[in-house]
Amino acid sequence: MPRNLFKPSFGTYPHLLVGRDQLIDEFEDTFDGILDPAGLTVLLSGQRGMGKTVLLDAYRRAAEGAGWLVITESSSSGLLERLTHDHLPRLLQEHSSKPPAQLGSASGTIGPLGGSASWTERYPAESTLRSQITELTDALQADGKGLVITIDEVQAADIEDLRKLGEIIQYGRREERLLAFAAAGLSTPIEELLDHPGATFLRRAEHHPIGRVSRAEVRAALAGTIADSGHEIDVHGLDLAADAVDGYPFMIQLVGYHTLKAHTTAGPITTEDVDTGIAAARRRLGRHVHTPALRPLSSVDRTYLLAMAQDDGPSRTGKIAERMGVSAQYAGEYRRRLIRDGIIESAGHGQVRFTIPYTADHLREHAAHNALEGLVDEDT
Ligand SMILES: Nc1ncnc2c1ncn2[C@@H]1O[C@H](COP(=O)(O)OP(=O)(O)OP(=O)(O)O)[C@@H](O)[C@H]1O
Ligand SMILES: [Mg+2]
Repeated sequence: MPRNLFKPSFGTYPHLLVGRDQLIDEFEDTFDGILDPAGLTVLLSGQRGMGKTVLLDAYRRAAEGAGWLVITESSSSGLLERLTHDHLPRLLQEHSSKPPAQLGSASGTIGPLGGSASWTERYPAESTLRSQITELTDALQADGKGLVITIDEVQAADIEDLRKLGEIIQYGRREERLLAFAAAGLSTPIEELLDHPGATFLRRAEHHPIGRVSRAEVRAALAGTIADSGHEIDVHGLDLAADAVDGYPFMIQLVGYHTLKAHTTAGPITTEDVDTGIAAARRRLGRHVHTPALRPLSSVDRTYLLAMAQDDGPSRTGKIAERMGVSAQYAGEYRRRLIRDGIIESAGHGQVRFTIPYTADHLREHAAHNALEGLVDEDT
């Protein structure tokens, strides 16, 4: 029975993860006894849909595969509370052989509730976190295993929580504990976060920007997932789909999913199926990726992008300044910011291109739409 194994939703591990072999090898090496200390603090940054959450999950899998314990968290408020009240007590109960009374006496502050009191009733949050992590990593270290904490959407973290956690990670490093930390988040806010004094420890992390994957890898992901779903596609259809994906991981899933959905007849997938799939994929891309990515930009940023959008491929920076009617230096300021924000990227000397495919089309369509809205407003 043919299926549809593409997974066009955020945070879902794909049927075939492509283009990240080197990074995943590094993750595995970190936990396979090679233990390059650099790999013990990892930061993944990138634009929406590049596959950061999925890679964080790959980091978790590598750690669990080697027998480490993993705490998976997002940066919603109350992060520290959840660590000290929920995750760590649970893991300590499962993995620390010390009875609770002994845990308490380790710091000599057994309260009136005695041995039956929970950790958090006896210690304030910060010292609790450090003692709990010390206790747990001590217990695990005997078997050569450690603890991993992963935090997704780290740009949304409470900076104070992050500072406290960072201090404990740094202590852990100094004490050569088997304690690893991996975080992922959006490019721009991560850049801002790295400038923040509360996030010093993140500046020391192994920072991997997560970008597009190659065309060969896109084809491999499409062909493999289609075959495993029980369908057939010819080389022409596959090329058409791979061109539409343009190296963007989320689009592999979108194009694949909607192509299979459009394929309702018996026999191999047709060119029409692929065309229908691409059109549906692009509509969803606009809604879920372009609109949220472009929303926070200033009007000058948009003017820069619109000047770029006149080209079909990469744009020459001199040409952009000319179209904007400004100096190359002035345009350069915006270029730097937009590169930092992950909206555009360098495409060789003096050239830039959009990071996410179809941004130009989206901008053009919306420019027309906005202009029309303006006309309607004037008429009414
Ligand atoms: N290397 C890859 N190969 C195939 N599919 C991928 C790959 N990376 C990500 N995907 C798919 O792309 C989609 C987006 O991935 P993910 O949710 O990890 O992105 P993200 O970078 O975390 O996005 P956001 O910033 O919105 O959280 C998912 O459907 C995922 O399965
Ligand atoms: Mg994500």
